[in-house]
Amino acid sequence: MQLKSARILLTGATGGLGQALAHELAGQGAALLLAGRDTAKLEACVTRLGGNVKSVSADLTQPDDIARLHAAARDFGVNVLINNAGINAFGLFENDDWLTVERVIATNLLAPMHLTHALLPWLKEQNQAAIVNIGSTFGSLPFPGFTAYSSAKAGLRGFSQALRRELADSRVEVVHVAPRAIATALNTDAVNALNRELGSQADSPESAARQIVAALRAGRGEHHFGFPERLFAWLNGCAPSLIDQALKAKLAIVKRHV
Ligand SMILES: NC(=O)c1ccc[n+]([C@@H]2O[C@H](COP(=O)([O-])OP(=O)(O)OC[C@H]3O[C@@H](n4cnc5c(N)ncnc54)[C@H](OP(=O)(O)O)[C@@H]3O)[C@@H](O)[C@H]2O)c1
Repeated sequence: MQLKSARILLTGATGGLGQALAHELAGQGAALLLAGRDTAKLEACVTRLGGNVKSVSADLTQPDDIARLHAAARDFGVNVLINNAGINAFGLFENDDWLTVERVIATNLLAPMHLTHALLPWLKEQNQAAIVNIGSTFGSLPFPGFTAYSSAKAGLRGFSQALRRELADSRVEVVHVAPRAIATALNTDAVNALNRELGSQADSPESAARQIVAALRAGRGEHHFGFPERLFAWLNGCAPSLIDQALKAKLAIVKRHV
């Protein structure tokens, strides 16, 4: 993907990773259409970045907003969609209230599918196009305490793989990236404390953004970031019972932080 000629719709642009991605992409010459819910934050991002950057506010869980975003993306001449918006919920599944579970699935899985579905006919008309889905290590290494989130991210990974295979004879690339923890407001104090006790590393948003942009430049496929997270995700695919045992040993720690 040539970033100098790219026109990118970036969701979740007001968040920790979104702002770092916008900065990295603008620095490489891409034109940006930033999406988020918070209009004031969006305007501040546009002002900070300058250049060829516009914004549109939209709640991705609302069908009318998806339609508005679709129209704005066509007006902007988008050829790259980055599905980055997301929310997390840390807790034991049995204690999660059902609305939270629905919100996690709606934001992390259904919204990217919906926006992709709306934009796909347009993207297929472009000379070069890409869809980048921001997943998580937990999509390949589902984790206790993050059951709804892991389910949504595993779904996003499956969606990315199936769509990539469906579009293999088209000019639309489907890229799935799975970062490990990133130091952003997505993670509550409880999650940060859990990560510290488990010895899990968190990348800076800038470092994660650089890896994601490199994945976009490289094109098609699946990218897992961070070691040993990448190894454990692979192992979970081959021998999930080994990971079951390893995580059973950590369950008391997870329960203490929930
Ligand atoms: N942080 C991590 O540890 C980590 C690790 C792996 C993967 N990820 C993934 O990276 C992505 C970005 O996360 P982040 O860490 O940057 O989180 P963040 O700082 O909390 O930002 C989340 C972004 O999503 C937007 N958003 C949330 N719900 C939305 C909705 N209903 N409609 C529209 N926009 C919505 C927010 O917009 P407003 O501010 O306008 O509401 C915000 O821009 C997510 O997909 C996340 O799952 C994060």
